[in-house]
Amino acid sequence: LRSSAMQGLKVLVNAGPTLEDIDPVRYIGNRSSGKMGFSVAEAAALAGAEVCLIAGPVHLPTPLGVRRIDIRSATELLQCMLSEAPHADIVIASAAVADFRVREIAKQKIKRGPDGIHLDLVPNPDVLAEVAKVQPRPFLVGFAAETENVLTYARLKLDKKNIDLIAANDVARPGCGFDANENALTLISRDQQWHFAQAGKSELAGQLITQVAALYRGRS
Ligand code: PMT
Repeated sequence: LRSSAMQGLKVLVNAGPTLEDIDPVRYIGNRSSGKMGFSVAEAAALAGAEVCLIAGPVHLPTPLGVRRIDIRSATELLQCMLSEAPHADIVIASAAVADFRVREIAKQKIKRGPDGIHLDLVPNPDVLAEVAKVQPRPFLVGFAAETENVLTYARLKLDKKNIDLIAANDVARPGCGFDANENALTLISRDQQWHFAQAGKSELAGQLITQVAALYRGRS
């Protein structure tokens, strides 16, 4: 639904997985399809925002009127977010960033042998926590993908990453979360929360954008 809730605002959204290459043919990834984040980007554009969407490898068309930048790894996502975030009023981070990458990507395909192999994994940066340090600091909205203690864990992430809002989703709930067409969200601020019942991701994204716009406009 079209509105003017975000008229005049610049919104930066990230979506989809990051893939961490192991060798020329293999990678570490996750099941994020990008549907949630692409719906958020589309809803922000429909609400009048100028939208930049940074997307991991997904199979989705770019929403109308949205500027899209494709990335592959968490390292690329970080670089791109750090260069775009200072120009944004609002950042909404729905990407499922891989928490680990291999220390060194093998130049040739790793050969199959009789023994297993050990992957030397190093932690990826926390992209959102790094974005929270940029100046001027945009209004920051994260997502929290949880399978238990959803609201408690989401609150911890809100504090640890020093962001303004977090949209918590129970990704173990049937029909919701990764690669599903529907989701359910609880948007959490330091002192309030709003629940959005299970619905199609684009409907949910519209509700989320309306609430984020109201909170952004009303912030002290
Ligand atoms: O893409 P879909 O198939 O539609 O699925 C949607 C979704 C389930 C991926 C989405 O709704 C969602 O929950 N996105 C966040 C996924 C995630 O990895 O959450 P997290 O709880 O691990 O991370 C918390 C927040 O920190 C997120 O905003 C994430 O983008 C960010 N993060 C996490 C790790 C990291 N190294 N850097 C980050 O910036």
